[in-house]
Parts: sequence; structure tokens; C-alpha cells
Amino acid sequence: MGAADTRHPFAGLHGKLPQEVFGSLPTPCYILDEAQLKHNGEVLAGVAAHTGCKILLAQKAFSNYDLYPVLAPCLAGTEASGLYEARLGAEEMPGQEVHVFCAAYSEDEFKELLKYAGHIVFNSPRQLQKFGALAKQAGKSVGLRINPECSTQEGHAIYDPCAPGSRMGTTRAQWDANMTPELVALLDGLHFHTLCEQDADDLATTLKAVEERFGDVLPKMQWLNFGGGHHITRPGYNIALLEDCIRTAQQKWGVTVYLEPGEACALNAGYLATRVLDVTQNGATNIAILDTSAACHMPDVLEMPYRPPLYGAGEADEKAVTFRLGSQTCLAGDVIGDYSFDAPLAEGHLLLFGDMAIYTTCKNNTFNGMPLPAIYAYTAAGQLTLIKQFTYSDFKCRLGR
Ligand SMILES: Cc1ncc(COP(=O)(O)O)c(C=O)c1O
Repeated sequence: MGAADTRHPFAGLHGKLPQEVFGSLPTPCYILDEAQLKHNGEVLAGVAAHTGCKILLAQKAFSNYDLYPVLAPCLAGTEASGLYEARLGAEEMPGQEVHVFCAAYSEDEFKELLKYAGHIVFNSPRQLQKFGALAKQAGKSVGLRINPECSTQEGHAIYDPCAPGSRMGTTRAQWDANMTPELVALLDGLHFHTLCEQDADDLATTLKAVEERFGDVLPKMQWLNFGGGHHITRPGYNIALLEDCIRTAQQKWGVTVYLEPGEACALNAGYLATRVLDVTQNGATNIAILDTSAACHMPDVLEMPYRPPLYGAGEADEKAVTFRLGSQTCLAGDVIGDYSFDAPLAEGHLLLFGDMAIYTTCKNNTFNGMPLPAIYAYTAAGQLTLIKQFTYSDFKCRLGR
């Protein structure tokens, strides 16, 4: 594999080879890097300290609660997508804020949600009408998600809440048609979420649209939540502009600003270690079958789609030999990608994918009966500790009695 790979996703290895650091681990396994998580937390805490904004962990991206104590001192609390994540945040970041946004709450879950969430964000005037008074009576801070109808990302509508016809958030036309003075009076805050892995220039563009459409309403609010999708902890992100956006909103509208990044909290703070099970060839294509799966263990690779960084590997044809990396499953498209290497892969080789803490452990599945990878922590002191191991019963117990 040659010289050390010092790309950002592998910075946590401090120049050591994957074999040296993780060679003793059974594969496949996820490894969560505490020092990298702490680093991310400190960057976010810096933004909060400079501006007075509050930052929440969006648990949909990262919910390995054993490591919440690493992030908790840097954050105001957690953000949830529904009842279970709200409960997890309340239990595992105790004493800190719990915010929840869900496209629609059911009556059953809403009553229980009141036990865990302090801030409840509704998606539509109808949901606000149905549950808002109940939330207020329970002493909750109530918000409405707005849709500023400002797309700043192109080419993947699936991740664009402002795409035409989107169900996410209340547009100004919906507001004008449905928001009575009584409903407006229930609101403590507004929420928007429009970005995905974006820089602060797109936030600035979005804020202009928010002001154009909802500028008259904002001075009545106590808080404004900028949602997630801010790639704050990636190298080169424009933190100064982000802080400028936060201060401007606070001064203009007298609101407390919240951010709820998921990716930025755990960016480049995890790895997926896997071994080569077999090497084959189809025509000119070299193929390596791994003991991991894109479909099961890193579903965003197929959904986004997204190419994960691989230690020591280049783009197809960049290095001496190119291999197509595929999985054990039956799905023909369960391929992680074509990567090139200095030397041919062989059975038993250890490969290390980077940036594997986000949208992985909380999103994986056992399609084809694939085992779930164990989860390890790589502690700040350089120790490897087992967080969780899975067995056949984790596959079976979800399927029947
Ligand atoms: C409402 C909301 N908040 C926060 C997030 C977190 O986004 P990210 O992980 O891209 O920062 C998402 C992601 O979909 C979201 O839908």
C-alpha cells in the first residue's frame, strides 16, 4: 500500500498504516475515532462561542451514544427526527436540549414525545393546529418549518428540500392561505433545512430568500433554526461567513440562532475496515469481493450516490492496478466503486474506508442476512475498545417471534 495516506479522512491515523493500527480487529467493523470527533466538537464550539448561537447534533447522521460524552460539552443538545431519536437524545445527552422535527406526528407518538423534547417543530399549519396548543400547554417551545423555495444544490433532488413539489416545510403561499393569527401566536420559532454538504455562501443565499419570504414574521420569533447540511468541519469551509450569517440574523430579527448539523459533527471521524475475500476477473475488469457491502453497511454509497475515500487508493486507472470493489450479496449493483492501487489486491488484504461515522451505523441493514459490522472506539489514548458486537440473533429478532 506504500507510503502513509495523509488525506483528511485518514488524519486520525497520524501517519500509521491501517494494518498497524487496526490489523488485530475482526472484519468487517466500524471504528469511531474519538480524537477526530472531539476535534469536530471543538470547531463547532468555537462557532457557538464566537456568535452566541446554539449547535445541536442531528442524530440521524450519528447516534452512537457511547460517544455522546465526547461531543456533549461542545454542543447545546440533540436534534431528533421523531420519537425514538428524541428519547435517545434525552437519555444519552441528559440535561441538554432536545429538538424534534418530523414531517408529520401521529397522535400516539406525540403524547410520548412531550416527555422527551423541549422544542417541537411542525411541518405544516395543519399539524401546528392539531398539536400546537398541546405542546404549549406542556411548556414546549413551538416552531414551524418554512420552505424558502431556494434551491442551492443541483443534480440531486432527493436531497433538496426546496425542489419543486417538495413536502418539506411551509411555503409562503401555504402560510398566507392557512396561518391564522391564533396559529402565528403559538409560534416561538421558525426552522429551515435546505442544504446538504454545503458551504456558507449557499447559506447566505438561502438567508436572503428566507428574509424575502418571511422577513415580516421573523421579528416576532425567539429563535431561528438554520437546519443542517453545513459542512463546517471540512477543510476550507468558510467559518467567517457562517458566523457573519449567524450574527446578521441575530441582530436583524432578535432571534437565537440554532444549527443542527449531523455530518459536520462526525465528519471524518470513523472508518470501516474490511478484508478481501476473493479476487476474480471478468474480461478486463479486476474484481475484489469484500466482506462488507455498500447496500448493507454504507447505504449512502448507492443512495447519494457517493464514493467513499479508501486508504492508499486512487481513482480508477490512476495507480498501477484498478479493482472493482464489490460485496458478498446477490445484488449486482452492490459495488462500492472502482479504485486503483500500487499493487494487485489479494485474498486477506485489509482495506480501510474513511469518513464512515456518518449515516452508516445508524442506517445499516441485514439484507441477504449480511452480519452487521461490530463497532469499535479508537480512543484518544490510541486504544481500541469494543462498543458493540452483533450476532445471528440481531438478524433474526427483527423478522419474527
Ligand atoms: C431537518 C434536518 N436537520 C438536520 C439534518 C442534518 O443534516 P446534515 O447531516 O447534512 O448536517 C437533516 C438531514 O437530512 C435534516 O433533514
